[in-house]
Amino acid sequence: MSTTDTTPDADAVPSRAVSFRISSDEEAEVESFRAELGAAPLPRHVAIIMDGNGRWAERRGHTRVLGHRRGAAAVRRVIRSASQLGVEVLSLYAFSRENWSRPPDEVRALMSLIRRYVRNEVEEIHERRVRFNVIGRFQELPAEVRRDLGRAMEKTRSNDGMLLNVALSYSGRVDILDACRALVARVAAGGLDPAELSVDDIAGALSTSGRPDPDLLIRTGGDLRVSNFLLWQIAYAELYFSDVLWPDFSNHHFFDAIRAFVQRERRFGRTSSQVQQAVSAPRDVKAGALAPK
Ligand code: FPP
Repeated sequence: MSTTDTTPDADAVPSRAVSFRISSDEEAEVESFRAELGAAPLPRHVAIIMDGNGRWAERRGHTRVLGHRRGAAAVRRVIRSASQLGVEVLSLYAFSRENWSRPPDEVRALMSLIRRYVRNEVEEIHERRVRFNVIGRFQELPAEVRRDLGRAMEKTRSNDGMLLNVALSYSGRVDILDACRALVARVAAGGLDPAELSVDDIAGALSTSGRPDPDLLIRTGGDLRVSNFLLWQIAYAELYFSDVLWPDFSNHHFFDAIRAFVQRERRFGRTSSQVQQAVSAPRDVKAGALAPK
């Protein structure tokens, strides 16, 4: 089966002629969910493994590339909802380093879809005060992809809204490896004593430096694994697996994931009664006592 696809797909990445304003229905949907949540703490950082594009297309007799295009529409939806809800960081796994081994046609189509997506969506992203960022081995991407991504990063770099991390040529292990290299270089230059090396030093050398770790990791598509995504950073993330294929992942599915998150008790190694005590009498608990250890 050919992996290039020319099927017209009005719902996929819109041309600039199509209005990029969120519909008032979608906006109202998010507002009503926010009201439902009340004072429940939102995940500050949501990470998503967007899986199932290929199966979505194959089940309908389409090429896999059409699934990726539909996946891009779901990307737009989740960016809108997350930023409107007040999520601080949204990290989307769009292309792993392992994905380079897919058929070359599919890789080319994905690269071209990402370029088109960024060019078409950057205005709306900017208008929403979202800061667009890429994590992963940026230099491994084709030059024209880097150029378009670089423009979007530059345009949105001063935005004070949600940080959008798009993971491209990303590998959690390589993120850790690159951090190790940077730290070893600091040690070699005499700027860091290995005996003083801390967990915070490692976190600070990763691609997500300075940002909270994911509180919630969502994976669509039915598989129960983390596939080398943000390995260090998800140490205490709540994991949420959905059978829904990514192109079908709607606001309602996203809200269900957040509902599940707010119902979880995050203990960070403590007992349930310690956590309850901290909630009912926060001043009795030493600062940082509920931080991950
Ligand atoms: C996994 O599904 C998905 C990908 C490898 C690509 C993700 C890309 C998008 C959602 C669209 C473009 C992204 C952006 C940010 C514009 P799969 O192909 O592995 O699906 P399968 O498991 O059903 O084969």
